[in-house]
Amino acid sequence: MALKVTKASTLKPHPADDKLGFGQIFTDHMFNMDYAPEKGWHDPRIDPYAPISADPAMLVFHYGQTIFEGLKAYRTPEGKIQLFRPQANLSRFNRSAEMLCIPHFDEAEALEHLKQLIAVEKDWVPSSLGTSLYIRPTIIATDIYLGVTASKTYRFFTILSPVGAYYAEGFAPIKILVTTEHVRASRQGIGEAKTAANYAASILAGAKAAKAGYTQVLWLDAVERKYVEEVGSMNIFFVIDGELVTPALNGSILPGITRDSVLSMARHWGMPVSERNISIDEIFEANEAGKLDEVFGTGTAAVISPVGELRYDEKVIHIRKNEVGPISQKLYDAITGIQFGQAEDPFGWIVPVD
Ligand code: COI
Repeated sequence: MALKVTKASTLKPHPADDKLGFGQIFTDHMFNMDYAPEKGWHDPRIDPYAPISADPAMLVFHYGQTIFEGLKAYRTPEGKIQLFRPQANLSRFNRSAEMLCIPHFDEAEALEHLKQLIAVEKDWVPSSLGTSLYIRPTIIATDIYLGVTASKTYRFFTILSPVGAYYAEGFAPIKILVTTEHVRASRQGIGEAKTAANYAASILAGAKAAKAGYTQVLWLDAVERKYVEEVGSMNIFFVIDGELVTPALNGSILPGITRDSVLSMARHWGMPVSERNISIDEIFEANEAGKLDEVFGTGTAAVISPVGELRYDEKVIHIRKNEVGPISQKLYDAITGIQFGQAEDPFGWIVPVD
């Protein structure tokens, strides 16, 4: 069913594609939908992009009952617009909802709403290589109440932001600091959920890493402080002696869609792949033995992000002399090829918008 659309009275100027950066510019319209116990999710609509008027006692501000997603719309060489695995994002959104005690929404309807929003904002999808329209669906708890309990009412909103590269480095190796001082999440907590608390937990460590000249933090497990988990805004992969290795999803790691896509592609190519516990010592030992071929992160925002340096306490390793490795490059080309409609999609990952 067609959504009710209220058009913005003034439209914003569109920045040049080479001035986009990440998450700083927002389009003219947004999606809104509300939840109340007696009505369920209701009143889905497209409104002008605008500030949210919120009572200071709103639950989300105090106890962080909120979840979000990140996905992208891409422009193909023919000028068409397409989404990459949006169903996977929407089903992860509902899994996050469950962990945060937020009511489920209908995923098929949500996909329909998302397509309509993007169709309204189609002129905002940039076309230069590596640029896209970042999509940020969010749900916030809207009860006005200071009790620590699940809200009865919610707002689901989606905002759109034309973006370039997530990292200032672009598709070039970044430097990562393994934190021994902080942990992100522990098993049976909410580490698997895409929720604000996990990102709040990362800010201090991220600030310390930035001060020391590092782009991101690599987290170790919260219990033994030994096994690699993930990077600030990405999952992490290692190529060790020709095998692609990534930490198994253990309850405290975010189940990344790009992570899953990389695993599917590598398996499709017949590459040896393993999802398992991997200790930080194993990484440094593999490097000593000359077997650490490549390290890279994966994420919707970052795509594939090669890692050129890893610091763990006083030990520093340099990977591939700070150059992009062949597997990182091949995966980047293959994934972006499908996302941007330049390559066949044997996996059925693409959903056209128009
Ligand atoms: C994404 O990759 O889409 C994310 O949500 C990471 C974000 C913190 C930029």
